[in-house]
Formats: sequence, structure tokens, C-alpha cells
Amino acid sequence: KTIADLGDLRGKRVLVRSDFNVPLDGQTITDDGRIRAALPTLKVLVEAGAKIIITAHLGRPKGAPEAKYSLAPVATRLEELLGAKVTLAQDTVGESAKATVAALGDGEVALLENIRFDARETSKVDEERASLAADLAELADFFVSDGFGVVHRKQASVYDIAKAVPAAVGTLVLKEVESLKKATDNPARPYTVVLGGSKVSDKLGVIGNLLGKADRLLIGGGMLFTFLAAKGYSVGNSLLEEDQIDTVKGYLETAEKNGVEIVLPVDIVVAPEFKADAPATVVAADAIPEGQMGLDIGPESQKLFASKLADSKTIVWNGPAGVFEFEAFSAGTRAVAQGIVDATANGAFSVVGGGDSAAAVRILGFDEAGFSHISTGGGASLEFLEGKELPGIAVLDA
Ligand code: 3PG
Repeated sequence: KTIADLGDLRGKRVLVRSDFNVPLDGQTITDDGRIRAALPTLKVLVEAGAKIIITAHLGRPKGAPEAKYSLAPVATRLEELLGAKVTLAQDTVGESAKATVAALGDGEVALLENIRFDARETSKVDEERASLAADLAELADFFVSDGFGVVHRKQASVYDIAKAVPAAVGTLVLKEVESLKKATDNPARPYTVVLGGSKVSDKLGVIGNLLGKADRLLIGGGMLFTFLAAKGYSVGNSLLEEDQIDTVKGYLETAEKNGVEIVLPVDIVVAPEFKADAPATVVAADAIPEGQMGLDIGPESQKLFASKLADSKTIVWNGPAGVFEFEAFSAGTRAVAQGIVDATANGAFSVVGGGDSAAAVRILGFDEAGFSHISTGGGASLEFLEGKELPGIAVLDA
């Protein structure tokens, strides 16, 4: 069911689950991408004259209120972006939430305080989650699931609530699922996946699944050093997961057997320490000196990656190629983003998945329109790429 299937929503209380888990520096939101991505659904509901109640989480509070995890900065930013008043309730489902909802006029918006302030939200006990879902259900006539970034969590405001009130899928979740499906079911080929980020252990399921699907895997980020070590190269002080070397050796063998090309960088930007102004030099990937750590892929690797992206017809990118937050180590991630933008302009279908790469696109100043789809999901888009069932989606299909 979509929002349109819910019928006339004027005066109806619609509970929306959004993912407003945004990066904060004190009270300042450093990337509001997830808030902006939530706007289409909210605008549809405002125009329909619904009474809109949003529930969301921020960070990982331990089941009790903590000032630093308040959604107050989100309420302020949402109000600016939506151009409509957003009232923040002081609690999740308590007296303040009830009063705020009762006071809502048609087309008005309330944001409930961080749902993870209630320990039942993330409980492993079904009855506890169901009891929070029942409290949420008292505030609403309908539920709209629109927090794509959290659909991989079997939590009360994501999963159980969809069983407690008539539920529909929001426009963001719909767009995310359609785009990710397009990239993973019958992709146009060549199908190239760029993987980065710090740890290979976070991406094992994804790599395992892609070795049966993708044509090329381009490996960057901190995880590349475990690949280099698996090839027998020394990696100096670079990030290395020794306990994953054998697994990666297995991947290299499977890739060869399946005809999947694994593309590793041929040169690396190294520095003696993890610092923005550390002196950077470029070395061959098989000759990282002792005492140096790799912080980005080098210029030859950037050209190599760009050439592999150029003729691709489907591209998925998950994880930055280097420490893009530091200018001196951002060229690799820039080159990957540019390569994808160029390929997209040539007709490729491209998806940027994962919190860090989506943030990189924005922080490095790329126009989001240059990519076919930028996912708001971190763990959720990874689990999608792993081929796992996502509880928050499965419950809507049931
Ligand atoms: C995310 O940031 O990926 C989502 O908001 C989920 O957050 P979580 O990993 O704390 O469940």
C-alpha cells in the first residue's frame, strides 16, 4: 500500500517513521541529507490535510532520555526545510506527546522526542516492543513507513507499529527500494561496484553476495589494505584486519573462478600519521614503507578506477576511497565520485549507498543530481546489497 491507497487523509492522524539520525557537531547538524530526503512524503501529507506525527531516533541512547540525543536540532531544521511549523513533543508517547497530537490542526506537524528514549523500542522481547507500538498506535489512525535508513531494524516504531495500525510505504522507502532493486536484480552490464570504508569485516556479506553478481569490484578505503596483505604485500602501519586475511584470500579465489574482476589500487597516498596536515607521499601499492600508513588511493589508481567506471552500465558505490575529510587525502574519493558522475551522464544507472559515501558526495560539493540515486541508508543499504530480508519492508509486504 502507498499513501494514496490510504484514502482521504484530511483530519486523519498519520504517524510517519522517518530516519533523522543525522551527524551532529554539538547542536549543529553537519549533513541534513536525511531530513531533506524525508520532505516529499511529509509535503504530500501536509497537502492532504493530515495531522502529521513523526517518530524518529537519534544516536543510540540507552533506553532513557539523554539531552545530547534530543531531536530538538532536527525539529528546527525540519521546520526551516518544510516551511511549516514543527512542534517537538517533550516525550515519546507520554503526556506531552498526547497533548501535542491533540492540539494538531489539519496539515500540521508534530515530532515526537527520540523514540530510543523508550527502552521498549529496541527490546528483543516481542511483547515489550508490541506494547510501545500499541502506545504509538493510540496516537495515530495510519502509519507511514518512510525511514529507509532504519528498515533493517526489527524495532517497535519500524516493525511492530506496522502491525498495530493500517500501514503504507512512504515515497522515500519506495524510491530507495526501486533504485536498489534496479541496481541489484538484472543490472545492465558491465555492473561495477566500488567498495571502500574502513573495515572489510563490515562488508563481508556484501562482498560474498556480489561475487556472484557483479562484473567488477573496485576496492578502496581502509579495507583495501587487508586485500593487499592477502596478496602478500606489506602494508606498513595501514589499517589491517589480520583475522580477515584468509577470508579475503578466499574472495580473491572465488572472484577468479566466477570471472569477477577485483580491481585493487596500484599506488597509495601514505603519511606517517592520521592527521589532516601529515606529510603525504605516493608509493606503489606493493611497496608501502614501514612507519607509513595508507590514507588514500594514488593518482594512477584514480585513473584506473575511472577507466573501469567509464564503460559501466550499472554502478553501486559504498564507502569512501580514502580519508576524504582531510583535503590531502580526498582525491581518491573525488575521483570515484567524478567517474560515477561521468558514467551516469553517459547513461549508466548509479546508486550511492551508505552513510559515508553519501555524505562524501555532499561534503566534496558534488551535485546530487549527477547520480541516479543517493541512498539514505547506511546499514540498511548494505543489508539490501547483501540480499537480506529487511524487517521494516517485509512487514509491509505481509
Ligand atoms: C543509521 O544511521 O544507519 C540508521 O539510522 C540506523 O541507526 P542504528 O545503526 O543506530 O540502528
